[in-house]
Order: sequence, then structure tokens, then C-alpha cells
Amino acid sequence: MSKFHDFDVLVIGSGAAGLSLGLKVANHAKVAILSKNKLNEGSTSWAQGGIAAVLDNRDSTESHIEDTMVAGAGLCHRDTVTFVVENGHDAIDWLVDQGVSFTKETTIKKDVFVDGDYHLTKEGGHSFRRVVHATDATGQEVQQSLETQARNHPNITLFENHMTVDLIGDQHPDAAKRRCVGAYVLDTKNNRMDVFRAKTTVLATGGASRVYLYTSNPDGSTGDGIAMAWRFGCRVANMEFNQFHPTCLYHPETRTFLLTEALRGEGAYLRLPDGERFMKRFDERLELAPRDIVARAIDHEMKRLGLDCVYLDISHKDAGFIQEHFPTIYKRCLELGYDLTKQPIPVVPAAHYTCGGIMTGPAGQTDVANLFAIGEVAHTGLHGANRMASNSLLECLVYGHEAAKEILSLIKTEKLFDNIRPWDASRVMDSDEDVVISHNWNELRHFMWDYVGIVRTTRRLERAARRADMLAGEIREYYSHFRVTPDLLELRNLVVVADLIIRSALLRTESRGLHYMLDYPETDPVMDGRDTILRPPRRPLAK
Ligand code: FUM
Repeated sequence: MSKFHDFDVLVIGSGAAGLSLGLKVANHAKVAILSKNKLNEGSTSWAQGGIAAVLDNRDSTESHIEDTMVAGAGLCHRDTVTFVVENGHDAIDWLVDQGVSFTKETTIKKDVFVDGDYHLTKEGGHSFRRVVHATDATGQEVQQSLETQARNHPNITLFENHMTVDLIGDQHPDAAKRRCVGAYVLDTKNNRMDVFRAKTTVLATGGASRVYLYTSNPDGSTGDGIAMAWRFGCRVANMEFNQFHPTCLYHPETRTFLLTEALRGEGAYLRLPDGERFMKRFDERLELAPRDIVARAIDHEMKRLGLDCVYLDISHKDAGFIQEHFPTIYKRCLELGYDLTKQPIPVVPAAHYTCGGIMTGPAGQTDVANLFAIGEVAHTGLHGANRMASNSLLECLVYGHEAAKEILSLIKTEKLFDNIRPWDASRVMDSDEDVVISHNWNELRHFMWDYVGIVRTTRRLERAARRADMLAGEIREYYSHFRVTPDLLELRNLVVVADLIIRSALLRTESRGLHYMLDYPETDPVMDGRDTILRPPRRPLAK
């Protein structure tokens, strides 16, 4: 039997976006925060580098705005960029108030270490040091602090191991006027489908990088929010822009592991096996060129020379400095047999960030009333064709704040919808062949890597489109016959996202930012400022 839960605000996702929004509304609203696994298993915890914000007097908001616009290759929305950058300082102050401890500059006075201002590091595309961080584990520090606050707030209820299946609409006869009134949620521990009724629902589910075979992301990055919103009637934009992080550890026997761009910001070189610093052949900004350029250069060299990886080398820096600034990475590499202070580390690019997403307004509003989207799941116009490093946690915080204000005003007049049907599982049975799910998971992620990766062609994309279409049909059939499981739900979402990425990529007949087409190698000025917007077909909402 379904259990019904009633809240003012239902937040789906428990990273920086979801937690910050939850905390900002909780003094005036009853809040549920859902996490499909453990609360801290999302991408926020995995963020290493930091948060970009103008904190140094020599820096300026104009410079941060221009750097972001340049990285975004003509597709950033200037108003969004300006708004986010101008709110950067406040966002950092708020985090500090929540207990986040950022790394400070230290000086020695009379043999005693004295904390100064925040230590700011540098990453690709930034013309100033402006990335505030907690050594090389910034996300973990942010996640832990926000989680502690949320756990202690009497108006917030946290639901771990609760995976949202679909959003629920109020069945208004005019589809354009339908509201979101909650969600069907699988309690994966008790194997029970619950109904969460809410006055407003917020998607803060993160990105979709697991649609690719190799990714720097945690297992949960399966595009759930994007797929749910699409099925629910929301438009998505710029799904062709997947960011591949240039430097993830290459190790044949362990899952890949991010080696933060801050390493290059602090002087690490990229080298070929013969020691050559090859970035000088690709961009005058060398290792600190924007990510799309660095990832493509690595891909090019790997293909040209038939290499499994290239090398990241910071061993020329002082060992104490490396250990102090990158303690987590140093330790992790050492466990795997690599000493960052003594040798170059093998690296490859891997899928890292979904720059496109659900189209949202200035406070995270989507196309459906009472449904919001914030963080990586959303398209706000900040990232354009290539997200600049360390702008994403900032976006989570700024839009968490804006959406919270809007929601607090909305819930004053909204009522809970009391006509939701329980989940109907009377026509499905237990699966007889789970191999269909595992096979399709692998197949999907393989062809996305091979055909829709760093370098694309129209023929590769068309090939991928045919495969995605076939898998979508199989998965639809499977879903309609068998009881849902987390693997099936994620696969059902991934195939939607794969289809959106491929279709968007086929529409962009040019090369721009992260989208590089061998058969259209130039940027087409006609497409300057033109987002790729996909509209879902009109269909009945929810089940
Ligand atoms: O390299 C990094 O630490 C990643 C930062 C980011 O994706 O913003």
C-alpha cells in the first residue's frame, strides 16, 4: 500500500542546490528533501576545485563575467551571468554562516601560523585567482555543513533511499494550466511506492554524465530530473553541451577519479609519454585553456598516437606544497601506487557536467506551475556552450536562494491537492530477465561514448539516434510489464536523456564550445546566441 506524505515544499535531490533551498525556506515551510541513495552520494560531495567568486580587491565582477562569457562561446545569457556573478560574494558569506570552512592563506608571524584571507586558486578560463576552496575537497566540506544544518532543522524531513519515479499533475483539462502537485516515489528500502503531496516541487537532481561510459561523476548522475521534467511537459535546452573534464585518473583496474583543474591552476603540466608539453601546440593559454579545448587536445593526441592516456605532472613543485594543497588527491593516488610529488600521473578525459537542462526562469521556474529546477539539472543560461570551472556550485547557491524567495511567496496561497490516486501496480509483475536492463545500460553508455563524445560527426550521431530509439522502445515495453526497480528507473531516464542529447547535437550543424563536429568544424555566426530548445510532445501528465 502506498503511504501518503504531505509537505509544503518537496525537494528532490540533496546536494548544494537542494539543501540550500531547503534551509532557506524551512523557517516558514514544512520541507521534505529526498535522496535516491544516501544524502551525501550526489555530485556536490565529489566536487574538488571550489567555488568561483570575486573576493579579491584586484579582481572585478566585470572580469568574472567576461571570462564566463568567453568560455561559453557565444551562448551564455549575459543577464544570467551578471546576476550570478554579482551574487557570488553573498553566496560565499552564507556558506560560511552555515559552518563551511574554506582554506585560508597562512603566514608565519613570530613562528606562529596566522590565518589571512581566503586562499584563492585558479582554474581554466579564469583570468584571476578567484576560486575559494576547502583544500581539494570543497564539495565534501559544503555538503557536510549543509547536511548538518538540515538534519538539525525541525521543519526539514530527510528521506534517504527514496527514488522519484514521476511527477504528478493536477489533471487540469487544459494541459498548459496544469500544476505539479507532488511525485510518486519509490522507497527503495521498503520496496514501496509512496505519494508525496506538495504545494511546490523542486528538482535538484544534478546532471546526466552517467549516460557516458567514462565519467567523473557518482553513480546517481542519471539525468532523472531532466527526464522527469521532459515527460511532464517541460522544455529542455542545450543538451548537446556535455563537458568532458580533461584530467581524470587513468587506471585500468579502478574507477576513474577526478584530478582537479586546480592542479593545473597551481602549475601542473600536461605531457605526452615522451615528456612533451603538447598544449603549446593547441592554445596559447596552455594547460589553463578552457576545458573544451584541453579535453579535445588530449583526445586528439591520444587518437593520433594510439595512447591509452596522457600525463599530468606537478612533480616539479615543492612536495610540501602539493601535500598541503591537494591532500585528498595525493593520498588517493598514493594508494593506487602513484606519488604526485615524484611522478607524472596518467589521465584521460571523462564526462563531467551537463551544461544544458530544464529551461528555467529567473527564480528556477519551469514551464509547469509549482515546479522548479535548480542546479545542474537546470538550464539558466549561465554556462552557454562550455561551463567555466567552479561556476556550478555558485549557480546552485544563487538559484537556491532565488527559488526559495519565490516559493515562500507561492505557498502562502497554494493548497495541497487532495485527489491523487495511489500508484497502480496491479498490471505488472516481477521481472523475469534482468539481463535486459544490464545489457541496455552497457549498450547505451558505450554508444554514447563512441558516437556522441568529445568529437562527433553527423553519421555517428545518426547511428546513435537509431540505437537510442530501439532501446527506448525496449525499455518502454519492459517498464509497462514489470515492477520498477532503481536500475530500471535510472535506465528509463538515461535513455530519455541520451535521445535529447543526440537530437540536440544533430540540430547544431556547427562546432561551438563543447560540441565539436568533424563535418562542421567552424562556428556558424548565424547560431550566435541561439540555444537549442526541444519541446516535449503534448501528452497526459504523470501516470
Ligand atoms: O577540476 C575541478 O576541480 C572541477 C571543477 C568544476 O568542475 O567546477
